[in-house]
Parts: sequence; C-alpha cells; structure tokens
Amino acid sequence: MCGIVGYTGGKEAYPVILKGLKRLEYRGYDSSGVALINSGLKVYKKKGKVAELEESVIGKDLHAHVGIGHTRWATHGEPSDRNAHPHVSNSGELAMIHNGIIENYVPIKNDLLKKGYTFSSDTDTEVLLNFIEDIKKNNNCTLEEALRIALKRIVGAYCILLVAADDPETIIAARKGSPLVIGIGKGEHFLASDASPIIEYTKEVVYVNDYEIAIVRPNELILKNLGNEKQTPFITKLDMELAAIEKGGYDHFMIKEIHEQSDTIHDCLRGRLLVEQSQIVMSGIEDHLEALTHAQRMVIVACGTSWHAGLIAEYMIEELCRIPVEVEYASEFRYRNPIIHKGDVIIAISQSGETADTLVALEKAKEQGAFIFGVVNAVGSSIARISHAGAYTHAGPEIGVASTKAFTGQLAVLAMMALKIGYSKGTISHERYLKLINELDAIPEKVTEILQDTSNIQAIATKYKDAHDFLFLGRGYNFPVALEGALKLKEISYIHAEGYPAAEMKHGPIALVDENLPVVFVATKDSYYEKIVSNVQEIKARKGKVIAIATTSDTVISSMADDTMFVPDTDEVIAPLLSVIPLQLLSYYVGIAKGIDVDKPRNLAKSVTVE
Ligand code: F6R
Repeated sequence: MCGIVGYTGGKEAYPVILKGLKRLEYRGYDSSGVALINSGLKVYKKKGKVAELEESVIGKDLHAHVGIGHTRWATHGEPSDRNAHPHVSNSGELAMIHNGIIENYVPIKNDLLKKGYTFSSDTDTEVLLNFIEDIKKNNNCTLEEALRIALKRIVGAYCILLVAADDPETIIAARKGSPLVIGIGKGEHFLASDASPIIEYTKEVVYVNDYEIAIVRPNELILKNLGNEKQTPFITKLDMELAAIEKGGYDHFMIKEIHEQSDTIHDCLRGRLLVEQSQIVMSGIEDHLEALTHAQRMVIVACGTSWHAGLIAEYMIEELCRIPVEVEYASEFRYRNPIIHKGDVIIAISQSGETADTLVALEKAKEQGAFIFGVVNAVGSSIARISHAGAYTHAGPEIGVASTKAFTGQLAVLAMMALKIGYSKGTISHERYLKLINELDAIPEKVTEILQDTSNIQAIATKYKDAHDFLFLGRGYNFPVALEGALKLKEISYIHAEGYPAAEMKHGPIALVDENLPVVFVATKDSYYEKIVSNVQEIKARKGKVIAIATTSDTVISSMADDTMFVPDTDEVIAPLLSVIPLQLLSYYVGIAKGIDVDKPRNLAKSVTVE
C-alpha cells in the first residue's frame, strides 16, 4: 500500500512527482504530500486525495530539482494532515516517505522519547526517521551509514525515500518487502512504487531488491547491500506503453479494464494457444514439466479475487490433471505451520505480484523446499522474481482497485496450464483436449459479444441499487464466480453481499430470503444445470428476487428469473471467463448509480503490501 515517487534531475521535480502520485493513487488515497529541496526543505501535505494536495499548494513555492512524494493508505494513525507523509525529523533537516510497517517501532519510540525527541504524528515512519537522525548524530556518520545501521535494527517491511535539506541532489532509498523501481533518464532519475510514473520519461529501469540501498543523484545510481558492498544495477527495459495506464475515453479505469478483456485474454493466449498445431506452448511449464506432472499435490496460495481464481483452478486441475489441489488464503497459510512435502508444487496467484501475505507465504514454502510457480500480472514484481517458474497473465497494468481483467487473465493462464499438464500426463483424452483448446480460442470473441450491449445490465443495476443485501449462488465452476460477484459488489457499491454454493444455501442462508433479497444465480448450462434450476425454484418459492446469469437462449432459467443476463455457451471448465463479466458490470453500474468513486472505493488500496 501507499505510493511513493521521487525525482532528481534537471526538470522541475514537483510536476513530475504530482503526476506520478496521481498514477499511483490506486495504492492508497487517504492523504498525500511532497518534500522538495531547494535552499532548504519544503514539505506540503494534506488529508484526502492527491487533487486536494494539488489544490492546497496553489501559490506556494514549489521550485526544486529534487523531491519525494507519497500517497497514503493508513496503517499507523488515522488519515489526517499530520499523519500524512513526508515526515520531517526533529532537527528539521531530514524528510522521509515510507511504504510498509515498522513492527518494532514502539520500543524505538520509547527510547527516543526518553532522549527528548518529540513526535507530531502517530506514525511508525516518523519514529524510523528520528531513529536514523539519532544514529547519525551519535555516530557522527553519514546519512547513508545511519540508514544502514537503522535498517539492521528494525523489524518489518519498508520502501523508504529519504532526503536531506543540505543535499539538493540526492535521494537515498531502501527496500525490504515493498516495491521500488528506479527509472534511468539522461541526467535524471525517477523512483516509484511501480513503473507507471516513470514510463512517460524512460523505459530503462532497475528493480531494487530487498535489503538494498540506492543512492540516487542526477548522474549517478549506486546500489549497495546492507553490508555496504556495491551491487551491479540490473537494467530492464519496460514493455509497457503510456496509453495502457490512461483512461482512453472511459469514465473510469474499472469500466475501461472490463471492456479490455477481449483483448487482454487474447494477449494472454497469443503465442501460447496454438490451435492449428493443437499445442499449448508455455516455457514456464515445459522447462519444469517433470516437477509439474509428477506433483503429488498442488497448493494454491492467493488473496481476494486471485484466491477466487485459485478455487476455479482447483476444479480445473483436479478434473484435467487428477492432481489433488488445496487452495489457501495466503494470510492463513503463512501463520500456521503448513505441511509441505517434497514434490509439492505451490502455485501463487497475484495481480500485483507484491501482496505481502502471498509473498511471505511463498518465502516460507520455498524455504521448506517447495517448487513455486507464479501466475502474476505485474512483470518483474517480487512474486514473479521469487518463483522458480511461472506464466505472466499479460493483462497490462490494472489500475481500477477492483480486479477485473487480471482475474480473467489468471483464469486463461490456469486453464492453459491445466490443459498442458493434463495432456502431458495423459489424464485427458485427445478429443477433450482439442475441444477445450478450440473453446478457449473462441473466448475473446464471446467476451466481445457480452460487452457489445450492456444496457440490460445497467437497467438491472439501477433496479436493485437500493437493496441492503445480495446473495450470489453458483455450483461447480460457477461457485467461485458467485464468490467473486459478491466481492465485487461489496467493494464497489458498499452493499453487503454473500457468495455461497447454491446447494449449501439450504443449510442456513435461505433464512435470509424474502421479497427484498436479490439473489444472483450464476446458472449457465453445465453439468450442474438441472440442480441449479431446482435451487432457483427454491428461492422463487420464498419470494426472493432472482437475477440470473444464463446461457444465451436458455428460456427455462429466464422464464423463472425476475431478470436475466445472458452469456454465450462454452465448456464448463472455462465458463467462468464469461460468467464473471456480467457480475463485474453489475457491480460497476450499481456503484455508479450510488455515486461511488468506483476506481477508489473507501478503505481499499490496489496493492496490499502490508499484512
Ligand atoms: C478485489 C481485489 C483484491 C485482490 C487481492 C490480491 O477486487 O482486487 O481482492 O485480488 O488484494 O491482490 P493480488 O492479486 O495483487 O495479489
């Protein structure tokens, strides 16, 4: 969480930082601030979104060629002007921004209080900053040395940028567990939590590793480890265009990203799903085919929407590969003492590749000898880098806080993976393999069909926008889709929603059903179809309002339902790639009808880099 930006070079720093903060606002938006160095330190910060900071600095002196900026998702201390970053040290000489959590900040703060330090915020960041200042003073050392000593004593996660009033050229940065990218320009450097603030200026970047410190000046980038040994910066070329991170004529990133799905799924399949040759080419799998086909067990580790993709993958892999699969919330998996056997494969699913719980769960599993396969969207992200092998989803930057195109990208990768492993193992017939390859190939076109006219979904959203609760039900492959529909609606509309396996509703949730409860059935034509028709009847008998997602031209479901959203027919294994899309649209339009800022719903952040 939190977005950080830094600039040092010949340009005016403030406009670069401000634009960068706007691009990173998806990471947190409860307050923001900048620190600029120009004959001394100037710090401006404000509670609220970046636009409020921008408004508040009109007429202020913003001239500087070095500066750092931050957009916050609160961890320690409520969102307020005083808890906003940057924080300034007691001497007034240092300013710092931080993404992460310092777990042992309380004893450090108590020590500093005894020494007479004062604090103007409730944050762990201000404690770390003064800790650094105190070390510098006591050891009479450089700022870089003081930082190194401090980092060895703290527990937690961080990406920090640090500037000093007496050094109008240098930004010192460090990371552990929270991302940091440095863009290399001509006589200038850009620092950011991800590449989106950088892409406009340069495509050459360095992803800083954990436990590295970067000393960044206009013409110099020095990387060192915590042992003060120089490291060679590994320069990567960004494969991303500016247009990919702009709204392109849509009102919101979320709706743009929903509409991109035909293209993003196509991009994900391109070069991998070779229909004419009846082949799936995925080097991440081919290079490790032995480990993957001989896996005794697969454990999928993920959070939120990515966890829902994992549940669908469980069905896919068990059916097509006959390998037992467990799906774990990363946050639970990491804190118990999970049993990992030799021959287990851990599949990590993550859009951002930076989710702290997933990352730490993987580190633990890796230590115990598991083989890690990453299904990640953000290229070069931490999860991608710690995986032994993997496959990118190629959905492009996802900026709307609610995950949409990343989810369908994950499903496309996981389907290809299950097909490839299953076919190599001989656990699926040639006929079924061919059928699924062809069905998968047809998905982008069918997505376009769904998205051609969304007016029906918009009307349904308007009709039900004032409901207090929603129930989402599905069976088989569509059960996790129901969970995903409920999650989308909660986060974008603030309406309470629950997802359940349709048959399980009899064991409790059916008590909620009355004429005021909209029940969304994900009821496409599949092997559970007859069963779900009975479940729809059970809800109708109790006067519930049924909204159905049905296969095009299914008149049975549509005659029972109050409202129906249709999706084209496909094989049930990949049906979620289609059935989720009306649910994404439903939550978007309900959110819009309720006047919610769907790209930045309250309390959320896109990349959850705190546990
Ligand atoms: C929901 C959503 C979150 C993420 C979750 C995991 O719309 O976006 O539930 O899916 O925070 O994030 P990643 O996939 O980046 O690990």
